[in-house]
Amino acid sequence: MNIDIENNDKLLPRHIAVVMDGNGRWANKRHLPRAAGHKAGVNATRKIVENCAKNKIQALTIFAFSSENWNRPETEVSNLMALFITTISGEVKKLHKKNVRVEFIGDRSRFSEKLQNSINESEALTVNNTGLHLNIAANYGGRWDVVNACKLLMTEIQNNNRTIEEIDEGVFDSFVSLNDVPAPDLFIRTGGEQRISNFLIWQLAYTELYFIDTLWPDFSDEHFAAALSWFAGRQRRFGKTGKQVVEEK
Ligand code: IPE
Ligand code: IPE
Ligand code: MG
Repeated sequence: MNIDIENNDKLLPRHIAVVMDGNGRWANKRHLPRAAGHKAGVNATRKIVENCAKNKIQALTIFAFSSENWNRPETEVSNLMALFITTISGEVKKLHKKNVRVEFIGDRSRFSEKLQNSINESEALTVNNTGLHLNIAANYGGRWDVVNACKLLMTEIQNNNRTIEEIDEGVFDSFVSLNDVPAPDLFIRTGGEQRISNFLIWQLAYTELYFIDTLWPDFSDEHFAAALSWFAGRQRRFGKTGKQVVEEK
C-alpha cells in the first residue's frame, strides 16, 4: 500500500514509534490463550514494517517487551521469549532481502544465550542495509535508557574524556538509544490505553501522540494510512506560534 497524502513527502513522519498493545485482549475475545494473541500480533507487525519500507519511512521503533513485562506470569514470559526466537529466525532473512536494518534497544543481558545470539546475528546480518531502520525495543524501559546514558556519560567524565560543563541536551542525546535516527515524529499506541508505559521517555518529548482502540492484531493497512493522514494534519510548532510556523513555510 502506498500512501497518497497530497503527494507531499514532507508530511510523512521520518520516524514512527509504536506501542503494539492489545494482543491479550484480542485473544480473550476469541476464547484463545494469550499466546495466540501474541502470535497474531506478529502478522500485524510484519504489515507495518512492510508499509513503512514501502513508504520510505526512515525509522520504525516497536515496543516488543518492556522491562516491566517480566512481571507477567512465567508461562506468558516464556511463551513470548520462544516467540521472539522463532520470529527473529523466521523473518530476519526476508528483512535483509528488503534492505531493512534491524537493531535492538534495551538491556539484552537478561535474555537467554540463545535469544541474545539470534539478536546479535540479526543485527550483524543487516548492519550495512540502507533501507528502513527497524528498532525493536526488547527488555526496554525509558527510565533504564536515561539511567544507562547517565552511567555512560559519567564513565566518560571519570576517564577524563569529557567535562561536566560540556554536557548539554545534544551530548546527552548521543548516549540514549536511537541516537542515530531523528526523534520519533509520530507515536502510535493501539489497544485503547493512553499512556507511554515507560517507552521512549526522552525521545518522545516533541512527538505527535496517536492513540486508537483497535487491538494490535487487528491493526491493518487502513489503520496505518489513517495514522499517517492524522499526522499530516498536525501543525508542529515546537514552542512557536501557529502564525510563525505558517509564515516560515
Ligand atoms: C502487547 O499486548 C504485547 C506485549 C506486552 C508483549 P498485551 O499482551 O499487553 O495485550 P493486552 O494489553 O493484555 O490486551
Ligand atoms: C507496553 O504494553 C509494552 C509493550 C507493548 C511491549 P503493556 O501492556 O505492558 O503496558 P501497560 O502495563 O498496560 O501499561
Ligand atoms: Mg497491554
